[in-house]
Amino acid sequence: MDKLIIEGGVPLKGEVAVSGSKNAALPILFACLLPQGEVKLTNVPRLRDIVTTLKLLELLGCRTNFEGDTVTVERMSVHTEAPYDLVKTMRASVLCLGPLLALAGEAKVALPGGCAIGARPVDLHIAALERMGAVFELETGYISARCNRLKGAHITFDFPTVGGAENLMMAAVLAEGETILENAAREPEVADLANFLNACGAKISGHGTSVIRIQGTPSLTATSYRVMPDRIEAGTYLIASAITDGEVCCRDCPVPELDALIFKMRTMGLWIEEADECVVVRRHGELVGVDVVTQPYPGFPTDMQAQLMALMSVSKGAGSIEEKIFENRFMHVPELNRLGANIKLKGRTAVVRGVDHLVGAPVMASDLRASASLVLAALVARGATEIQRIYHLDRGYEKMESKLGALGARIKRVSE
Ligand code: UD1
Repeated sequence: MDKLIIEGGVPLKGEVAVSGSKNAALPILFACLLPQGEVKLTNVPRLRDIVTTLKLLELLGCRTNFEGDTVTVERMSVHTEAPYDLVKTMRASVLCLGPLLALAGEAKVALPGGCAIGARPVDLHIAALERMGAVFELETGYISARCNRLKGAHITFDFPTVGGAENLMMAAVLAEGETILENAAREPEVADLANFLNACGAKISGHGTSVIRIQGTPSLTATSYRVMPDRIEAGTYLIASAITDGEVCCRDCPVPELDALIFKMRTMGLWIEEADECVVVRRHGELVGVDVVTQPYPGFPTDMQAQLMALMSVSKGAGSIEEKIFENRFMHVPELNRLGANIKLKGRTAVVRGVDHLVGAPVMASDLRASASLVLAALVARGATEIQRIYHLDRGYEKMESKLGALGARIKRVSE
């Protein structure tokens, strides 16, 4: 298992290019099951979850290729089983449910199970697909589903689930008639998937709002598509600049999609300049704590709370982060405290009292964004921090240590 060793204290300077979005690329890759012909995707980040998805697509009957940042996918046949071996390493595998039902009228997908940040059930996906005519059975850890051609339905989600909206859009594009999704997730990655499907000939409107309308069509045709930049990776580098008192210019930064984060960072006292999809972050004096509540988009993203917490832990005064999306997303708190932070948990709220400085120590990464917060804290801690279990980081950050190294960070990966 690899670990990262970071010597803190270097203000990061220079330019960093944001990679393609993991959370947009994953559903778009599953959507490649739907059209006829070869799809070409560019700006695909080279991450473990992407490689896992390509493996799964191959098992499902696709031919795939990944070179540079370009992926090609062509469905040659259809197999309808997603085995546990792959699903257990990546929850997003459940996104093959919608396309397989639309395409083949059956799907057998291993139940993803819980994960470190919470139970994360898929009941809302299942209930919505049932409304379209699918019949589900649960057998020995697998969800089995069957249907004739899916039928359009009017579905109101209990909660704006991101994966749920994605699965349903992929099911509905080939269904009979119109599907309306209400209280749908508005995340930019959901909209990116809709844009891809529309480029293949689908008829989706309203994506990016809470009411998405999908008019089913008999078939889709392959196309070329560029995946949107990763707003969470971009946000992480903005915080890396801020926490080290550096001056990083973040290129291809999806600025409107980061509005909630940028607003909070400005409230903390950061100077953030935007020009032509480049964002420069600078600090003038001390930062102050803020109060944050994670919410579905366009609210503050749960995927950024751990990183902002690292920044707040070295700011002045107190601030708080209330986690409203996942019930158990504070595993970074004891690890940040090991580095000298002063964070107390009260139910689903973390109260952060800023400290003068952090001190390097061995810490353990527990999930993707928690790992990122430890890297950020380590960048400013005095002395060396050793971060174990960084395979989580490899799931979501492309070339993180070389990108940070190019900005001046003293960071190295060591294999154990
Ligand atoms: C996606 C993102 C993840 C992000 C999350 C919230 C991907 C690959 N992952 O995850 O990075 O943190 O959105 O922005 O895009 N829920 C149910 N039943 C369901 C579905 C969801 O109760 O059927 C609950 C979940 O347990 C969670 C909340 O709804 O508490 C949000 O989940 P959801 O929006 O579905 O997140 P994901 O699509 O899994």
